[in-house]
Amino acid sequence: MENLSPRAGELEAIETASRDEISALQLERMKWSLMHAYENSPFYNKRFDEAGVHPSDLKTLSDLAKFPFTTKKDLRDTYPFGMFAVPREKLVRIHASSGTTGKPTVVGYTARDIDTWASLVARSIRASGGRAGDLVHIAYGYGLFTGGLGAHYGAEKLGCTVVPVSGGMTERQVALIQDFKPRIIMVTPSYMLSILDEFRRQGLDPRESSLAVGIFGAEPWTNAMREEIERAFDMHAVDIYGLSEVMGPGVASECVESKDGLHIWEDHFYPEIIDPVTGAALPDGEIGELVFTTLTKEGLPIIRYRTRDLTRLLPGTVRSMRRMEKVTGRSDDMMILRGVNVFPTQIEEQILKCRGLAPHFQIELTRSGRMDDMTVHVECTLGAADETARNVSARELTHHIKSVVGVSTKVIVHPPGGVARSEGKAKRIVDNRPKE
Ligand code: DLL
Repeated sequence: MENLSPRAGELEAIETASRDEISALQLERMKWSLMHAYENSPFYNKRFDEAGVHPSDLKTLSDLAKFPFTTKKDLRDTYPFGMFAVPREKLVRIHASSGTTGKPTVVGYTARDIDTWASLVARSIRASGGRAGDLVHIAYGYGLFTGGLGAHYGAEKLGCTVVPVSGGMTERQVALIQDFKPRIIMVTPSYMLSILDEFRRQGLDPRESSLAVGIFGAEPWTNAMREEIERAFDMHAVDIYGLSEVMGPGVASECVESKDGLHIWEDHFYPEIIDPVTGAALPDGEIGELVFTTLTKEGLPIIRYRTRDLTRLLPGTVRSMRRMEKVTGRSDDMMILRGVNVFPTQIEEQILKCRGLAPHFQIELTRSGRMDDMTVHVECTLGAADETARNVSARELTHHIKSVVGVSTKVIVHPPGGVARSEGKAKRIVDNRPKE
C-alpha cells in the first residue's frame, strides 16, 4: 500500500497547535456557544434557568460539567424545529435521522454551519490520505441521512471530483468503480463487504481495482475488519465518525499514517467521557459514554449531548487534538447474557478469526424462561460451504465466543448470501424476545 503521510505544509495550523493553544480557543468558543444557546434557543434558555446555571458561570473548560445534558429525547420532544437557535429562514439545510422508534430527530444548518462541516470533512478526507484532484466514489446514502451529502460537500471542498452514487445497486457500484477508477471510496464498512462480494461474483480481482483509500464509518467496525478489507482490496481502510445531532460525518477521523483511533476535531467539538449511569465526568483514558458540546454551530448549538457511544479519550499523536478509541458500540446495542455484557463488535472479532466464515452476521435474541439467549447467524465462505465444513466453523466460532467473550451461544452457519445485507448501516441485532 502507498505511503500517504502528509507532506510539510499540507496541514492546517490548528492540527499541529499546542495543547494550550487548543484549550484557549476552546474556552473562547465555548463561552460563545453557551451564550448563543442561552440567548437564542428557548429550549436552552429554560433548561439552563431550571438548572440554575448561566453561561457566565463558565470560567474554565471543566466548568462545563455544571451544565445539564442534552439527549435524543430532547430533540424528539421539541420536534421538528424547537431547538434551533436561529429563525428557520436562516437555515439552508435540514437533515433528520430516522431512529428505530418514535419521531425522527431533526437538525438544521446555517450557511456557515455547512461551510464548517464541509471544511471538517475535507480535513478528514485529507487525514485519510485524500488530496485535491482525487476521484471520490460516495456510496453513503444521500437524503435526510447526513452521510452522502456530508461526504459530498467535504470532498468538493477539498477539490476532489465527486461521483455521488449513493447506496444500493451493488452491481452498478462495481461497474462504476471499474470504469471511473476512483482512488477513494466513502461507504459504510458493512456495505463495502457487499461490494467486495460483488467484485468476486463478477470474477474481478478487488486488489487490481483503482481504490487506494476507503473512508468507513456510520457504524461500529473492528480492527479485525480493517485488516480483512485492507487485505481484500490492497487499500487503506480509515475510520470516520460523526452523528447528525452534532453535525454529521467528520466530527472525528483517523489519520492514515497512524490508524490509532480517531482525532476529534476539537476546535469545533468539545468531548467529554461520562459514567453512563451516574453522569459524572471521567478522566481521559477511562471508558464511558461520549458527550459532545458544539463550539461554533449556529443553527443547532448542542450542549453536552449524550451520544450513547462507548469509547475513551486518548492524547493526540500525529495531530495534537485528542483521539477517541474506535467505538466499541452503543450502550443501546449492549446485550446482557447471564450477567455478561456483549457488544456486536466482540462477535465480529471472533468471526474474523474463523477461516471458513465470511464477516456477514446478525445476532438474534430470544428468551427461554427468564434468560436471554443469543444465536449468531453468520455466512460461510465459498470454499467452506459443504455441510461438514460449516459444522466445523460453527463449532470453532462457538468455542471462540465462549472462551474470549465468555458467553454460550448458538451459531448457525448459512450458505453464502444467507444473511440479510444492508446498503447502509448494518442491522446487527434482531430482537425476537417477547415484548414486555
Ligand atoms: O452515521 C454520520 C456518519 C455518516 C458518520 C457517515 C460517518 C460516516 P447518524 O445517522 O446520526 O450519523 O448516526 C450516528 O452512528 O452515534 C454512532 O453510534 C454511529 N457511528 C457513526 N460513525 C461511527 C464510527 C452518522 N466510525 C451514530 N464508528 C453514532 C462507530 C459510528 N460508530
